Amino acid sequence: MNNLNLSTQFIVHPSGTLRGVLRVPGDKSISHRAMMLGALANGITQVSGFLEGEDTLATLAAFRAMGVHIEGPHQGQVILHGVGLQGLQPPTTPLYLGNSGTSMRLLAGLMAGQSFAVEMTGDSSLSRRPMRRVTEPLTTMGAQIETTAQGTPPLRIKGGQRLQGIDYHLPVASAQVKSCLLLAGLYANGMTCVTEPAPTRDHTERMLTGFGYPIQRNGPQVCLSGGGQLQATSIEVPADISSAAFFMVGASIATGSEVLLEHVGINPTRIGIINILRQMGADIHLHNEREIGGEPVADILVRASSLHGIHIPEEQVPLAIDEFPVLFIAAACARGETRLTGAEELRVKESDRIQVMAEGLQTLGIDAQPTRDGMVIQGGKIQGGVIQSYGDHRIAMAFTMASLCASNPIIIEDCANVATSFPNFVYLAKQAGIDIQLKVTGN
Ligand code: S3P
Repeated sequence: MNNLNLSTQFIVHPSGTLRGVLRVPGDKSISHRAMMLGALANGITQVSGFLEGEDTLATLAAFRAMGVHIEGPHQGQVILHGVGLQGLQPPTTPLYLGNSGTSMRLLAGLMAGQSFAVEMTGDSSLSRRPMRRVTEPLTTMGAQIETTAQGTPPLRIKGGQRLQGIDYHLPVASAQVKSCLLLAGLYANGMTCVTEPAPTRDHTERMLTGFGYPIQRNGPQVCLSGGGQLQATSIEVPADISSAAFFMVGASIATGSEVLLEHVGINPTRIGIINILRQMGADIHLHNEREIGGEPVADILVRASSLHGIHIPEEQVPLAIDEFPVLFIAAACARGETRLTGAEELRVKESDRIQVMAEGLQTLGIDAQPTRDGMVIQGGKIQGGVIQSYGDHRIAMAFTMASLCASNPIIIEDCANVATSFPNFVYLAKQAGIDIQLKVTGN
């Protein structure tokens, strides 16, 4: 969050290779869910590997504001003194959720089941993001929620409604919507079922099971009954594959590179980045595969290789939904054409990632044509230039990796929000061999 009128730039000079053993921060999706379920469980939940980024800290702060005693975070350790599903207190001010769509959409489900009213607000990016995808089904369940006329935040949730379970077919493949409805279902009468059109990340389902809450999965459908209890547990959050993705692409495109990314979550609903890069010819090996707290984890070894363009299979889109900014950089450095279709969701992320990435790639001399639901990119020679990230963390980090194939420096504007998901990005990027400077100026 850039609330002091400071502007943050990355200045990145072309550099040679990426090397080393890196541990990127904890998984953002799992960290959010650990705060939510830990706060609402009976007993004390210990979390390690928590992502201390602005998004997940916003979730943590929301539960503190509702009376949950939370110790930490301290070096990724958080101790939550759970209050039980009925134990939250009304917050005295609106819950400010910064840039975090996951906080707002998942909390919308939980807040719909409370006995008190809550207002949720966000920064300028979150205030533009579509919320009807959660408010409409929640309203069907009996919630009363106000948005702006455009269906955007702030969300005003009137408490004290009796929720009724529903059987909902998601119109878009969205783990946030699925999770929102399952969390509301904890408070609903009867059974709540959600059917997804394509597999999306299933961390909520896995973690509910870890907290002892019965769920039923039947192919694309997941169901739970309201009225149960969550039992406190301990959670070890793996490193975030969405953060590792920047270094996976960086090591693939920078000649002579070899990077080992340690302890990365490789949940099958998140590994689109590995599947797509491998199809493009990347040299990626998984080592030491293990399961930790219900989530599969591995060390990922990536060596430089010569990438080629592909038509990205549409079924991989939800499995790599946050990785397209950096995959577009891989495509720009690859031989031939890369074509993405079926990814219109990218237009409603922290920025319009189709438009913003196409604009940035064109600035760097790459032929990148945005389409309604994707992009067509011709691999080419990346030049230097000044890129607008529009405050989108993943755009800023993606263009940092472009410098590994660039002929001249790349300056990236408006990078403060990198702290939402990857607070030590600049430090780790430097450690791996990227020539990056952070410049903060007042305006
Ligand atoms: C997330 C789901 C995805 C993803 C977001 C995190 C989650 O959003 O883009 O960064 O933690 O459930 P959608 O559900 O909108 O696809």
